[in-house]
Amino acid sequence: MAKTQVTIVGAGPSGLMLCQMLHRHGVDAVVLERQTREHVGARIRAGLLEQGTVELLNEAGVGERMMREGLVHDGFELAFDGRRHRIDLAGLAGKHVLVYGQTEIQRDLADAAGARVIWEAKDVAILDSEGSSARISYVKDGVKHEIRSEFIVGCDGYHGASRASVPKDRIVHHERIYPFGWLGILADVPPVSEELVYANHRRGFALCSMRSRTRSRYYVQCPLDDKLESWSDERFWDELRSRLPPELAGKVVVGPSIEKSIAPLRSFVAEPMRFGRLFLVGDAAHIVPPTGAKGLNLAAADVRVLYQGLVEYFRSRSTTLLDEYSMRALARVWKATRFSWWFTTLMHKFSDEAFAYRLQLAELGYLAESRAASQAVAENYVGLPFDC
Ligand code: APR
Ligand code: PHB
Repeated sequence: MAKTQVTIVGAGPSGLMLCQMLHRHGVDAVVLERQTREHVGARIRAGLLEQGTVELLNEAGVGERMMREGLVHDGFELAFDGRRHRIDLAGLAGKHVLVYGQTEIQRDLADAAGARVIWEAKDVAILDSEGSSARISYVKDGVKHEIRSEFIVGCDGYHGASRASVPKDRIVHHERIYPFGWLGILADVPPVSEELVYANHRRGFALCSMRSRTRSRYYVQCPLDDKLESWSDERFWDELRSRLPPELAGKVVVGPSIEKSIAPLRSFVAEPMRFGRLFLVGDAAHIVPPTGAKGLNLAAADVRVLYQGLVEYFRSRSTTLLDEYSMRALARVWKATRFSWWFTTLMHKFSDEAFAYRLQLAELGYLAESRAASQAVAENYVGLPFDC
């Protein structure tokens, strides 16, 4: 049976960031990933990094390309009722965010991880996470293997095997499903604006984002049961423009989509995030709707708390930080869950009810007029302090 110090399940951003931080601090880890490297690398996901995430990737030694190619954003815009209001992140919160795609981070991290990842590890099963050591099995090229380690970390996303292995009476799930999805497209056209624009419109929410100065990422809120086939590029561009203020709509450069997908929106938190020798990290433990751009950043925050605990344990056998992991991670998770829920509720169309729409406009108007209200948004958007 193979032995290592930490077995990580899942080679998304959570698993690879953790593996890299452990490696930098002399802790041995193996990552078991069900898919191929190409499959995981091709998924189009988030694109906005908080400063804390940027710092973690730099500490992990994988930040060089990110610092060169990432775009610094000092603010973003809210568009509503024919108005535009800029949230000055730098002025209100003293920080900025960085636009750098998750696909790029995934590539940088996978390059660094090298042979520490076992790609196409099928049928991962947690055999023991409570005894004097942890045991896990997987099948590679038709051959079954077993690994013994001190800890297992589930970084295997919402549908992974780790959380599913926890007995139902030891875990609490909190969930809210939103009654709409986001239809997103990626296109090699220059972004409509230098900064991101979040639009509240009677027809539904729209977001203008980007991956670079020549690659745009746009989203429109759509019904959950919409089929991709019913969204031609032309229909998408028309719908996007109809939801933006006229002066912006007129500037949208259209072009063929290179990716198009519909994603549901959900808030989900599993508590606690530790079960004996098993820890949960990132999407395996919590999901936020993308409106606040918090998913990837929360995963990075979990990794920061957990790697410090693991490093301390392997240096001194002290479990103090490990014992605090779930409590410290969840404190931040719930605050980001609240912000993502609030921002989603403020910006989307939930019904045809005029009362609900007028309340949204009143709140957006207040945001535009009150420095205090704008500052609260800015502080959350750039990322709360790690020990909040
Ligand atoms: N065995 C092995 N690997 C698995 C298993 C399994 N049973 N189940 C899932 N995986 C792998 C998936 O193939 C995937 O590569 O775990 C990985 C989980 O990756 P993500 O879903 O990206 O989760 P995480 O790394 O926590 O992502 C962090 O970034 O953009 C966001 O939406 C993303 O919010 C999430 C965040
Ligand atoms: C993205 O570029 O994909 C993106 C940016 C900001 C968000 C959500 C998604 O809030």
